Amino acid sequence: MPDKRIGILGTGHFIPSKVLTNQDLERMVDTSDEWIITRTGIKERHLVEKGTPTSQIAFLAAQDALKGAKLNPEDIDLIIVGTITPDMQFPSTACFVQAKIGAKNAACFDVSAACSGFIYAISIAESMIKSGQYKNALVIGAEVLSSITDWQDRNTCVLFGDGAGAAVLGLVNEGGILSTYLGSDGNQTGLLYLPAGGSAMPATIDTVNNRMHYLKMSGNEVFKLAVKAMTDAANNAAKKAGISSVDQLDLIIPHQANMRILLAVAKRLKIPEEKLFLNVTRYGNMSSASTAVALDEAVKEGRIKKGDNIVLVAFGAGLTWAACVIKW
Ligand code: UT7
Repeated sequence: MPDKRIGILGTGHFIPSKVLTNQDLERMVDTSDEWIITRTGIKERHLVEKGTPTSQIAFLAAQDALKGAKLNPEDIDLIIVGTITPDMQFPSTACFVQAKIGAKNAACFDVSAACSGFIYAISIAESMIKSGQYKNALVIGAEVLSSITDWQDRNTCVLFGDGAGAAVLGLVNEGGILSTYLGSDGNQTGLLYLPAGGSAMPATIDTVNNRMHYLKMSGNEVFKLAVKAMTDAANNAAKKAGISSVDQLDLIIPHQANMRILLAVAKRLKIPEEKLFLNVTRYGNMSSASTAVALDEAVKEGRIKKGDNIVLVAFGAGLTWAACVIKW
C-alpha cells in the first residue's frame, strides 16, 4: 500500500483590528520610527483589546480554516494549539478552542515551542494522522503577546504583536507534507524567556513589582542564532523531502521575527527576496502565529499555486527551530 500523504485541507487567520504604530510607541518609550524600521522592518502591529484571551482569536482563525476545508467542527478529531500565551497555565488553550467551535469529537492539547510552535504542531498532527488514529486535525498558532510584553522596555516592546492562524490537516490524494524537521538547544533557555509564574518562580508581590511576568530577551545573541538555525532548518527539511536545494522551492514562508533576519536567511539560502513571504512590516513578530498567518495570507493572495513546493521555517525560544516542506 502506498504511504499515506497528509496535507493541508484549509487555512485561516484572524488579526485584531486595533493598530499600534511606531509613532504610538514613540510616545510610550525612548524610541523612534526610524530606529524601529531600520533595525526590524516593522511599521505597525495589531493588538487585542485588553482581556481578550488567546483562545478567542484562535477560535476566529479556526472558523476561517474550517470554512476553507469545507468541514464541520464535528469532523475534527484533534486540536493542537502552539502558543506561549495560553489563556491559563491549564486547562490547555486547545480545550477552550474546542468548546468555542463545538468540536466535541476532538482530543486537545497545546504545544510549547515558542515561535516554532505552529510547525511543531503540524509535525505532531501529521504523525498522529499517519498512525491511523486520527483523521482531521485543526492546528493553530495563536498568541496574545501583548499580555506578556513589558511596555516600558524599548528592547522588546517594539517587536511583538497579537494574531492567530490555523490550518486543517487530513489525508490528501495529491501533494501534501513532504518532510518536517524539528530541533532544539536547551542550553540556550536563558536567551528568551518569561521568568515568573511557573513552578521555578511562582507569582508573588515581588515578582510583580520586579516586572518578572514579562518576556526577557537577549536580542543580539538571538539574532545571530536565528539566522543560522533557520537556514539550517530549511536546508535540512528540503533534503529530507528529496529536494536538492532550497532555491528549487517556490516560496519560503519564514517566521516573521525581523526583516534583517529574513533577508540574511534569504542571502544564505541563495534565494531571491521575491521568494520570501513577508508580512513583518504590518504585524511584527507574533511568535507561533507568524508562520500560521503568513501561510493563510500566501494562500489567499494566490502566492501558492497547485503543485508548488513551499517551506515553512521558524526559530524561537528554547531555543527551538523547525521547518516543513509541503507540496500544494
Ligand atoms: O521570535 C524569535 C526570537 N526573536 C528574535 O528573533 C529577535 C532577534 N533580535 C532582533 O531582532 C534584534 O536583536 C533587535 C531588533 C531586538 C535589536 O537590534 P540590534 O541591531 O541587535 O540592536 P542592539 O540590541 O545591539 O542594540 C543597539 C542599540 C542599543 O543601544 P547602545 O547600547 O548601543 O547605546 C540599544 O539600547 O539600540 C538600542 N535600542 C533601541 N533604541 C531605540 C534597543 N531597542 C531600541 C529601541 N529604540 N526600541
